[in-house]
Amino acid sequence: MHEVHPTPSGLRPTLPEWAVVSPKRLAHIERVARLVAQWAEEMGVPDSERNRWLRAVWLHDAMRDAEPGELERWAPSMPGPAELRHGPASAARAKADGETDRGVLDAVRYHSVGLAEWDMVGRVLYCADFLEPGREHTQDERRALAARFPKDPGGVLREVARARLGHAVTSGWPLPDPTVRFWNSLLARAAG
Ligand SMILES: [Fe+2]
Ligand SMILES: [Fe+2]
Repeated sequence: MHEVHPTPSGLRPTLPEWAVVSPKRLAHIERVARLVAQWAEEMGVPDSERNRWLRAVWLHDAMRDAEPGELERWAPSMPGPAELRHGPASAARAKADGETDRGVLDAVRYHSVGLAEWDMVGRVLYCADFLEPGREHTQDERRALAARFPKDPGGVLREVARARLGHAVTSGWPLPDPTVRFWNSLLARAAG
C-alpha cells in the first residue's frame, strides 16, 4: 500500500515495512519530512538529532490507515476514533520493532494531542505535521510560521498549539488531559 517511489536520500530513513498508509497519506508524510529536513539544515542540528526527527516523522502516521481491529490490537488502552488511536498504535508498533528512543516514541504517541514533557522531537513533529504546505486552510499564516520556526521554535510551537486547540474548542471536542497539561506548560514557559 506504500512505497510508490523511493524516498529521497535526504529524507531517510523511510516508512517502516509494517506501515499502512494510502498514497495521499504518504504524500503528507513526505511533505512533513521535507519540512523537518529543511529545519534541521537551517538550525544546524547534528546528523544524529536530524535522524531522530525524521524517524518520528516516518513513524507518526504509519498506522493511520490501518483497520480498526489492528489499531485496537496495538493501542488497547486508547479508546476512541482512529484520529486519536493511530499515534499510540504507531508508537507501540515502533517499540515492538526495536525503536528505543523515548523522545521519538513520545513524539509519535502524542502527536495528535500534545505532551508537556516533550523534547525537541515531539515539538518539531507537532509543528511540522500542522505547518506542512499541503493543508489547504490558512496557507499564508502557516507558511510564515514554518519559515520562522528555525529561529523561534518555542514561539511557533505556541502559535501552532493555539491554532490546533482553538480548532478543537470551536468544534466542541473535549480536550484530552495531556492536551490541557501541554497547553498550560507552554504558557508557563512563555511567562517564566
Ligand atoms: Fe497523525
Ligand atoms: Fe501527520
